[in-house]
Parts: sequence; C-alpha cells; structure tokens
Amino acid sequence: MNKFFISLAAVCCTFLAVGQGIVPQPVSQTSREGRFAIRSGTVISVDESYGDLARYLNSYLQPAVGSSLEITAQIPERNSIRLQVSEDKGLPAEGYELEINQTGVTVTGADRTGLHYGIETLLQMLPAEIYAREGTIETLELPCGTIWDYPRFAYRGFMLDVARTFTDKEGVLQVLDRMAHHKLNKLHWHLTDDDAWRIEIKSHPELIDRGAFRGGDYPIRPRYGAWNQVYGGYYTQDDIREIVDYATARDIEIIPEIDLPGHSLAIASVFPEVLCRSADSLRSAGFTPNVLCVAREENYALLDDIMHELSELFPSSYIHVGGDEVDPSQWNACPDCQALMVRHGFDSPNQVNGYFMQRMQKILRKYGKHQAVWSEAVDGDNLPLDTRVHGWKNVADCRKTLGKGYSTVIMPATYFYFDMQQSPGEPGLTWAAIFDMEKTYSFDFDGAGITSEEQKYIAGIECALWMEVGRTNGPGYLDYQIFPRICAFSEVAWSPREARQWENFYGRMNATHYNRLVAMGAGFRITPPVLTYANGAITAMTPLVGAEIRYTSDGTEPQADSPLYTGPIATDKIDSYWFTVFYKGRKSPSVPVPGANPYLTPKFTLTSSMPLERRTGGGDFDARNYDRTSRTCQVGDYVTYTFDSPVSCGRMSICTGYPFMPKFYIPVGKVEISYDGTTFEPAGDLVDGRITLEPSRPFRAIRIVSESDGNCDSAVYLRDPIMTVK
Ligand code: ACM
Ligand code: ZN
Repeated sequence: MNKFFISLAAVCCTFLAVGQGIVPQPVSQTSREGRFAIRSGTVISVDESYGDLARYLNSYLQPAVGSSLEITAQIPERNSIRLQVSEDKGLPAEGYELEINQTGVTVTGADRTGLHYGIETLLQMLPAEIYAREGTIETLELPCGTIWDYPRFAYRGFMLDVARTFTDKEGVLQVLDRMAHHKLNKLHWHLTDDDAWRIEIKSHPELIDRGAFRGGDYPIRPRYGAWNQVYGGYYTQDDIREIVDYATARDIEIIPEIDLPGHSLAIASVFPEVLCRSADSLRSAGFTPNVLCVAREENYALLDDIMHELSELFPSSYIHVGGDEVDPSQWNACPDCQALMVRHGFDSPNQVNGYFMQRMQKILRKYGKHQAVWSEAVDGDNLPLDTRVHGWKNVADCRKTLGKGYSTVIMPATYFYFDMQQSPGEPGLTWAAIFDMEKTYSFDFDGAGITSEEQKYIAGIECALWMEVGRTNGPGYLDYQIFPRICAFSEVAWSPREARQWENFYGRMNATHYNRLVAMGAGFRITPPVLTYANGAITAMTPLVGAEIRYTSDGTEPQADSPLYTGPIATDKIDSYWFTVFYKGRKSPSVPVPGANPYLTPKFTLTSSMPLERRTGGGDFDARNYDRTSRTCQVGDYVTYTFDSPVSCGRMSICTGYPFMPKFYIPVGKVEISYDGTTFEPAGDLVDGRITLEPSRPFRAIRIVSESDGNCDSAVYLRDPIMTVK
C-alpha cells in the first residue's frame, strides 16, 4: 500500500469521529463517545435575530427529515439544535464552536458569520445527500464531540469572469451557495472586459443594449467563438439586487469590477469617443484599441455615472477598477494624453495609469467607496496607498505590491488561476502553469519566499476563473475548472498552516467530499487513475471511494460502457491502452500507461487553397508552433492532410487555430475523410475549429472545408493532427 492508501484507510476507519471529512479542515476537533440523531421532533432553538440562519439550516434538514423542524426561541433540554451568538467563549471573528452531545447540538458563533459557518460544518457532518435537498435520509446521526474553528484569513475570495462567458443569474447563485459551503466570503465579480459589458447602468442603457452581446450585427466581434450566433447576456439591476441579497445572506461580500482603463473594448464599442484620438490610425495599422483616453474629461463624467450606480447597488466598501494589461501604444500616439503627460511631468505610461486611478479614487470617495486594482497599477509609484491591490501574475508580482506597502490580495496565477489546465490537453489555458489541486494546496507564504515583513500587508487570498474559453468548452466548464481546486484553495484560505497536510486532505476528498460535490450537483474534475506496468501486466488504481476504472485497448477514448478494470491486465502491447476513472456521471481525463508510446506521427503533406507558410517551432501560444496560412479563410477554402501511406489510428484530433482557444481558427467547416486518397466522404463538422474522429478503418487523407468568411484574425493556424496508436 502506498502512503496515500494508508491515509485514505485512516480517514475511512475514523470517519465516524467528530469532524472527520470536513473541508476546509477545522482548527481543532475532539471526539467523545455517543451520538445524537436529528429526527422529526428535533427543534431548532434560536433567537429571532438569527432566525434566517435557522431557516437556512432547516432548508437542508427538512427534506432529509421529511418534515419541517420547529424553530423556537425556547431552549429545550433535549433533542434540539441550539444556534446562538456569544462573545463569552473568546472565539475570533467568524469563528464558531460546535458542540454535539447525546442530548443535542449547540452551535455558538463569535458573530453572525461564525454561527453561519458552524451551520456549514454541521451540514458537512451529515450524510452527503443533505446537499441535494431532496428525498428523506434514513439516519441523520452526529458523533459527539466538539469543534472549535475560525479562519486564517479574513479575505477568502473567488473571482469570476462573466464578461468572456456569461454565467446567468441562477449560475451565480449556485456559485454563491458552493462558496458558502467552503467558507469563502468574497466574490470578486469581473463584470466587464473587452468582450462584454454585463451590468445594466440606467443612466447609460446603451452599455447593455449594445455591449452585452457579440456577433451578428453587434459592434463586438465574436472572437471567443459562437461564430454564427449572437452570444451574450447581462444582469438587470433587479438581478444584481437579488444576487447581492443572496450573497449577503451567505456572508459573502460581492466586489464588482469594471475593468479600466484597458480591457475596455466593450465600452468603446458602444461609445467609440472614449478612446484616444489616435484610435482610428492605430486601427488601420491592424491594432484593436481598447484603452480609454485618460485626457478626455468627458470620460470621467461617464465613469462617475457608472460608479454612482454601482455604489448604490453593491454594499461592499470596495469597487475594483482594473488597471491591468494596459497597452501604452494608444496613449503614446495620442496628442491629448501626451500633453497630459507633459503637464504632470510624467515620463512613463505607468504614471498615466496611476493618474487614472487617482481620478477614479476621487470619484469613488464621493460615493463612500475604496478602490481595488490589479497589480500593474502600482508600477507608476503614484497609486494612492489606501488602494487594495490584487497581485496576480506570480509570487514575485505579489511581493512587488506587498513590498510597496499596499494591502494585497494574493492570487498568483501559478497556483490560483483555475482557467489553467489541470493536466496537459485538458480544458483551459496554459500560459501561467498547468496544475491540479495538489499544487493549489501546496501554496505556502514562507515557502514561496514572502518575507514576514511583506506578510503584514496580506489582505487575504483569492482564486480566479477567467472565462475566455468558457463558452467553447460548454456549460460544464465552470465546475470542471474550479472543482476540486477550490476545495484545496478553501483550506489554504481557512485552515491553520500546521493543520494542512496533503495526504489527509486528499483522503477526505476521496472518502467524503467528492460525494458532497455530487449532491451539490457540481461537475468536478477527477484525478486520473494511477497506472503501473510491471512483470508484463498493467495495474490501475483510484483512491476515489465508489469509483470505477474503465479502459480501451484500441486507442479509442474509454466510455461508460468500455470494459471495467477488475485486476491486472497481462499484455505486451501497452501503447494502445487508455484508462479513465468514472464516478457518478463524471469522468477523469483518460491516460496511457507510463512508458507507452501512445501516439502516432505518420508523415503527411499539407495542401490548401490558402497560401501556406511552414512552421518553425515554438510554444503553445507561439505562432511558430503551427503551420499557418498567410490570409484568413473564406467560404470554400480547404486544407488537406494527405498521408504518405494508409493510417490506422484509435482516435484523431484535428485542430485549427490554438488548441485551447478559438483564435486563428476555421470557425465553421465540414470535415471529410478519404480512404483511397482521391474520393472524400463526410466525417463531421468542426466545432469551434476542432473535431475528434475515431476512424474505423485505415484512411489516406483528411480535408477541412471552410464554411466561414473570416475568423476575426489575419491567418489560420494548423496543428498537426494528434493520433493514438490503435
Ligand atoms: C489579469 O489576469 N489580467 C488580471
Ligand atoms: Zn488619449
């Protein structure tokens, strides 16, 4: 048994002790003999000022018990769940004590939030099905003991980009529920970007009328796919109020973000005059200007209107105003911005960014708000020191802002950007890192080299999901990218450093927490099986309790009806084996056997109706890594891969454009296959420039025929087909 399986066994054996399986791990927990059973007749005892929390608890217990529990201000001697807030126990802010005896349960919060978190922990101690809120559960027993718990950081955030891919109101409410179950308390809501403006502003209704959609006749081009459709959505102010109330009830503060002065293509598509006077000439030189003119006074009046409405909608004392990735070429080419730089003695565009933030701060102060920004905004050394900064690129970026004395939210992309792939080839991007939950879990301030002096300025930590490729990857993308990494993140944010131990956490995930995610309806990523090949046999293992492993031996993708792995498979032909973990409707990525050569690289010739330039080699985002055309595609353009000899493969993935993002692609097209090299027959349609085929017999050529006029880019990139050994 490896050390992981030993710790899993330990978790399973002691699972009935108090607090086992809780995520995030509590500060301390002690167990005692005995149990208490919640059943009809159990009452919830609470002072009416916290009645909403009693009703919240009851909304989970009622379906499980089969009838509503009585909520009373009385304090019964037996058979009750008592909810109270008290300062007497000396609990830190947001802390709670959960006491379970044979006569009942007492949850004591240091404050309202602490009481809420005690209830969240109580829910985790019940069968996982409690989260489904449907169907009775036979026994709702709790083991006796005491949990004492409070958070490590006051700021435990999640950033959601709803601009690139829209998450509708119901989806946002679901995110809030799941954040609360993991004791996360800040939703940083990225409401605008180049690709959309998502929030209704009553004084400027055009922002959503024309800025919330892309494609069709809308001014925003569909650069993240959905080529033939109009794509988008927005939140009305009523939606916002409903979402804010829902969040407040779950002790979550929503910090809205309007990303300025860069990332502003959406607002500039609606109001082109907000750009610099140089925009037209830059556009004709092939740029897409997306930065507000800092010298245009009318822009501040527009932003004042927007911030005023935002201030009234969001109770948070912070509004995030962006500041990241500003392309200075627009200010450099603008006579007005240049004159402003001379007037203020600025010699760098970073100071212009800082100046813009000073102006924003003045506006926000009028409405009683503070500003939050991304870390580039500190580079001009003229950002007001009472600004909260989000350090995002990597640990060095966070240290930069801590070192300058800014209260900093730590969110290095290399650990906490959940749009990064979890292993090579999975959904998501790769520019910062490829990592799974173990890396997220490993984040450690001392280990990362953040000095104790710098640590004084840490406001908290935040994970993020940018959604450039959300729409392309379908509705399950949000859940797949954040779960289970956000579970690991919650423990980094909440639990004391010394209480964190990877094997123990992974054991809790596998023994119980995945099951809770199932009951919550979350579609999470599953760790692939652990494979070994020794003595002529393949062995496969998964620590996930209740999961099964299925496999194929012909290079195709394992499916729910593929052969079930039941024990070592004797074979000397490992190259064509693929294994996948299946668990309650979810599946892991499929993996080949270590040491196998699972891919074919047959020789082929590429021909096209578009002029072709051969690649010269480079990384994923590097154009040199791809064959490319020297113009964009038109309807009827084709690309043909002709193989030197017939190819027999398990599966073949064809990809136009970047493999992980619909750019430089053939947006819509037919794919044809030829078995003799001359006659072609239909094989399928490109979806966002891609297709995976499992040809049943040897073939000679593959042809892609474009059905789209253009792709928003100046070329088409073509990656070699990826083929598995049959
Ligand atoms: C960012 O990822 N551009 C903040
Ligand atoms: Zn300008």
